[in-house]
Amino acid sequence: MARLLEGKVAIVTGAGRGIGREEALLMAKHGAKVVVNDLGAHFDGTGAANATPAQEVVSEIKKMGGEAVANGESVSDFKAAKRIIQCALDTFGKLNIVVNNAGILRDRMIFNMAEEDWDAVVAVHMKGAFNMTRHACEYWRDEHKKGNVLNGRIINTSSDSGLLGNVGQINYGACKAAVALMAIITDAEMMKYGVTANAIAPLARTRLTTDATPGTAATFGREVAPGEFDVFGPANVAPLVAWLASDDAKDMHGEVFRVGGGSVWLMRGWHAVGQLSQRALWEPAVLGEKLKAEHAKGLTAKETMAQVVGSMAQ
Ligand SMILES: NC(=O)c1ccc[n+]([C@@H]2O[C@H](COP(=O)([O-])OP(=O)(O)OC[C@H]3O[C@@H](n4cnc5c(N)ncnc54)[C@H](O)[C@@H]3O)[C@@H](O)[C@H]2O)c1
Repeated sequence: MARLLEGKVAIVTGAGRGIGREEALLMAKHGAKVVVNDLGAHFDGTGAANATPAQEVVSEIKKMGGEAVANGESVSDFKAAKRIIQCALDTFGKLNIVVNNAGILRDRMIFNMAEEDWDAVVAVHMKGAFNMTRHACEYWRDEHKKGNVLNGRIINTSSDSGLLGNVGQINYGACKAAVALMAIITDAEMMKYGVTANAIAPLARTRLTTDATPGTAATFGREVAPGEFDVFGPANVAPLVAWLASDDAKDMHGEVFRVGGGSVWLMRGWHAVGQLSQRALWEPAVLGEKLKAEHAKGLTAKETMAQVVGSMAQ
């Protein structure tokens, strides 16, 4: 098979473990030079930074003959994010691909969520994706003006939690809805510079689905029999990301994909499923009656995360 990413330079954030690690390994296998960014903290973002996970991924890439460099900066810091971009430029001379994957979890019900749990999750997921995308897009626009078209690629990591909603994750779900939308807006703004931006909503066994969320641990952590396809293996997410990062995916603009096991779903967001209109001011009670009838008519079953995960596990 031809290598999809020959000559490309990629940054994968949070690539020391889980899904990001598999993305970095596969992209390197396909010829990309990779900045393996990872802070190396606990799943809730606490604890001392640990460079080991990122360095281990770099060693694995080098062992298979690829090129990679470790970077331990936090995506949540605007200036540090610029240094992550600069790391790619200094080490490999250019940048083509940014996979915004770094993530933490701090699940709480709304009435129990501390301000710092909200802020920490927003800082890594939403601001982190903004920071990386902002600096990368400035670079791609500047290069484009000089006649250097780099076919920039942004791949944001959303979640079903942000597309469908999930109890206990108001901070995380809000960010994951945001990063899906940020891919759509980034794509619309950057298309003229040869850049695409898309988002994925992965489903995979990592510490976020086993250690951080006990409710899903049994399904995601289920033992895999020898020879059985590992449905929740994090490696299953990487092929879509590697392809979206390639020149071949130039016509994928602002799309959101769910990906897990051997499945890829093309997702579409908010769209009208019913409408009431009159060319006059509504009387609230009359509007209410009509809305109830319209709602009952247009009500289609909503997909839930539990259904999606359950159907994969079958
Ligand atoms: N596992 C799933 O099923 C699933 C589902 C939906 C979305 N996601 C998303 O996928 C992404 C990867 O998560 P994962 O499941 O592989 O979990 P993971 O914990 O294995 O990996 C996340 C990595 O991000 C790193 N990180 C955290 N904060 C960082 C920061 N500020 N700067 C740089 N790196 C940082 C962590 O050290 C960790 O290695 C996350 O954005 C997560 O929200 C995962």
